[in-house]
Amino acid sequence: MHRSFIVLLCLGFVRAILQNITVDDTSPDIVYGEATFQCNATVPCPDGLKAGVFNESATLTFSSIAFNFTGVAFYASLDVVGAATIILDGEELSILSNPLSDVLEAGPGQGSHNISKTGLANIPHTLTIAPNTTLIPPTIIGFDHLIYTASLPDKKSHVGAIVGGVLAGVAVIFGLLLAALFARRRKLILRRNQRKSAVLRGMTVARQNHNAGEEDAKELPT
Ligand SMILES: *[C@@H]1O[C@H](CO)[C@@H](O)[C@H](O)[C@H]1NC(C)=O
Ligand SMILES: *[C@@H]1O[C@H](CO)[C@@H](O)[C@H](O)[C@H]1NC(C)=O
Ligand SMILES: *[C@@H]1O[C@H](CO)[C@@H](O)[C@H](O)[C@H]1NC(C)=O
Ligand SMILES: *[C@@H]1O[C@H](CO)[C@@H](O)[C@H](O)[C@H]1NC(C)=O
Ligand SMILES: *[C@@H]1O[C@H](CO)[C@@H](O)[C@H](O)[C@H]1NC(C)=O
Ligand SMILES: *[C@@H]1O[C@H](CO)[C@@H](O)[C@H](O)[C@H]1NC(C)=O
Repeated sequence: MHRSFIVLLCLGFVRAILQNITVDDTSPDIVYGEATFQCNATVPCPDGLKAGVFNESATLTFSSIAFNFTGVAFYASLDVVGAATIILDGEELSILSNPLSDVLEAGPGQGSHNISKTGLANIPHTLTIAPNTTLIPPTIIGFDHLIYTASLPDKKSHVGAIVGGVLAGVAVIFGLLLAALFARRRKLILRRNQRKSAVLRGMTVARQNHNAGEEDAKELPT
C-alpha cells in the first residue's frame, strides 16, 4: 500500500505544465539602467525604430536592461540601433549589431530582433541586454516585450495522485480485511470439521466395539 501511494505521489510532483508569461516593456519587473523614454500610441517612436508592436508601446534606453525570471525559456522582441550584447546568467548569448547608417538606409524594422533561448534549467535566470556604450553615436535599444516559459507543477494531477493514492490505500486495507476474515472463517470451519470428525470417529469406534461385543456374545457358547 505504501509503495503504490508513494509512486502516485511522485508522478504528481514530476508532471509539470509549461506556461508562457508575457512581460511588457512597461512592467516594473523590467529594470532599466538609466533614464528611459517610452513611445506608444500617443507618443510615436522615432524614425528608424519599429518597436511598439506589442501593446503599442516600447521603451527606449541608452543603458542596460535586466530581467529576472524562473523558467525554461525566454523570447524577447527588441530594436537595436548600434550594438548590444545579450547576456544570460553572466554568459554572452549573442551580439546584435545594426549600425545607424544601415538602419537609416533600410528604414524602420532593420534593427528589429527576436531573440530566444530554450531548454534552460528550471531555475532563476537573469537576462541582461547591454548596449555598446563606446559607439558614436551611442547605441539605442527599443525594448518591446518578452515572453518567458514557466514550468509549473500540475496541480490537477497532484490532487489526482493524492486521491488515487488514498483510494488505492483504502482498497488494499479492504482487501487485507477480507483476506483476514476469510482466513478466520476457514480456521473456524476447519476446527468445527475436526471436532465433527473426532465425534464421528468416536461414534464409529463405539459402534465397532459394540458390534464386536455382539459378535463376541454370539460366539459365546450358549
Ligand atoms: C511560448 O511562446 C513561444 C514563442 O511565441 C512559442 O514558440 C512556444 O511554443 C510557447 N510555449 C508554450 C508552452 O506555450
Ligand atoms: C499594456 O500597456 C498598458 C499601458 O501601458 C499596461 O497598463 C498594461 O499592463 C499592458 N498590458 C500588458 C499585458 O502588459
Ligand atoms: C506614452 O508614453 C508617455 C511617455 O513617453 C507617457 O507619459 C504616457 O503615459 C504613455 N501613454 C500610455 C497610454 O501608456
Ligand atoms: C535579479 O536577481 C539578483 C539576485 O537575486 C539581484 O541581485 C538583481 O538585482 C535582480 N535583478 C532584477 C532586474 O530584478
Ligand atoms: C519577430 O516576431 C514577430 C511576431 O512573432 C514577427 O511579426 C516579426 O516579423 C519578427 N521579427 C523578426 C526580425 O524576425
Ligand atoms: C563596442 O563596439 C566597438 C566598435 O565596434 C568594439 O570595438 C567593442 O568591442 C564593442 N564593445 C562591446 C562591449 O561589445
